[in-house]
Amino acid sequence: MAQSSAQAKPTAVPNDLEPFWMPFTSNRAFKKRPRMIARAKDMFYYTPEGRPVMDACAGLWCTNAGHNRDPIVAAIKAQAEVLDFSPTFQFGHPKAFELASRIAALAPGDLDHVFFCNSGSEATDTALKIALAYWNVKGEGGRTRLIGRERGYHGVGFGGISVGGMVNNRKFFGSLLAGVDHLPSTYNREQQAFSKGEPEWGAERADALEGIVALHGASTIAAVIVEPMSGSTGVLPAPKGYLERLRAICDKYGILLIFDEVITGFGRLGHAFAAERYGVIPDMICFAKGVTSGSVPMGGVIARKHIYDAFMKGPDYMVELFHGYTYSAHPLACAAGLASLDLYRDENLFERAKKLEPKWADAAMSLKGLPNVLDIRQVGLTAAIDLASKPDAVGKRGYDAMEKGFHDAGIMIRGMGDTLAVTPPLIVSEKEIGEIFDKLAVVIKAVA
Ligand SMILES: Cc1ncc(COP(=O)(O)O)c(C=O)c1O
Repeated sequence: MAQSSAQAKPTAVPNDLEPFWMPFTSNRAFKKRPRMIARAKDMFYYTPEGRPVMDACAGLWCTNAGHNRDPIVAAIKAQAEVLDFSPTFQFGHPKAFELASRIAALAPGDLDHVFFCNSGSEATDTALKIALAYWNVKGEGGRTRLIGRERGYHGVGFGGISVGGMVNNRKFFGSLLAGVDHLPSTYNREQQAFSKGEPEWGAERADALEGIVALHGASTIAAVIVEPMSGSTGVLPAPKGYLERLRAICDKYGILLIFDEVITGFGRLGHAFAAERYGVIPDMICFAKGVTSGSVPMGGVIARKHIYDAFMKGPDYMVELFHGYTYSAHPLACAAGLASLDLYRDENLFERAKKLEPKWADAAMSLKGLPNVLDIRQVGLTAAIDLASKPDAVGKRGYDAMEKGFHDAGIMIRGMGDTLAVTPPLIVSEKEIGEIFDKLAVVIKAVA
């Protein structure tokens, strides 16, 4: 039924593709042979001609409830009819408060205040700014140093790229923020190749924080930011015990710990937040993507009570935090967020992801032994396959796989250099899991 409605009329495509400067895209190659998407429903995208393409990426790790789900579409429509926009600077609308309460209720421990923005990049910059301002209001303004991690991805704002650890996202953009250090990456192929879930090796990589403290002094360090699973650098799950160890070192020196859960939030690792999977409570959680199941841009930061409380002093007519976005808690995003959380709850989608994980992990590992496969990683409903690079053409094999996947095999996979990532909507069926990895096998052989 979904398929037939989505196959309706072919969608017209403009002749001139030139004016759109596409983000994170090889524009010239795309415009020669576009991978155009016109519609979507549940697990599928449809090209303008109506050809189905299985979405093995949940869009960009975001449509966790599947595409164009009726309750989310209805909620957005209904909200647009009654309140298109209202400011959240000095005014409020009910759904913003309702959604904040619902998100806080899903978060572990006393992570109980939610600051809204519109994307993951804004979420990480917001958390970094809250951390710096927190130390100021606490009278420890000397704590300005921010610690990220090699191979971390925290979006594309200046804060995010400064603490991030992806060379191409940093090297073109000048000197970035001063006073930033990086922990070493937790990935080591020799020790971890073909691990299912969290690798056994690597918890000790957290100890590098001790070295940074020894170098600069704890009284200069504001916060550490890490992803519980780095998605954009190729699905790097936290090694067993790593996050616990990081939390312990942060506690020892009074350093704030921020989890960037822009990908791992809202069910991707089988829990509302990865913090719950690992039993580690950070001081702040960044979220975006799955909060509205990708339907309307939204992001945010969940802060622990002690963070929020630190700002609540001075005359009560004064603004406590000089930060915010025109579209923070936009009514359409809030309506979409509430409908998404209802769907996650009503369909037990986080639990479903957890139950499917062993099957997913086995299916992912079944690709071991195919040509050029150097490593496969998996955690939650997420997996990545490292392919050997072509001599003198790093990234070409991954690009070709992504392109062949779309045009020939009818599957959307994410190519990141020569690493292929898959991370489907949480509604994926067992049969579709089989299909995803069958199609991947075809594609990997085709680019051998
Ligand atoms: C961990 C993480 N943080 C931040 C971002 C940036 O999110 P956005 O693209 O919504 O700005 C991403 C995007 O993939 C992400 O994976």
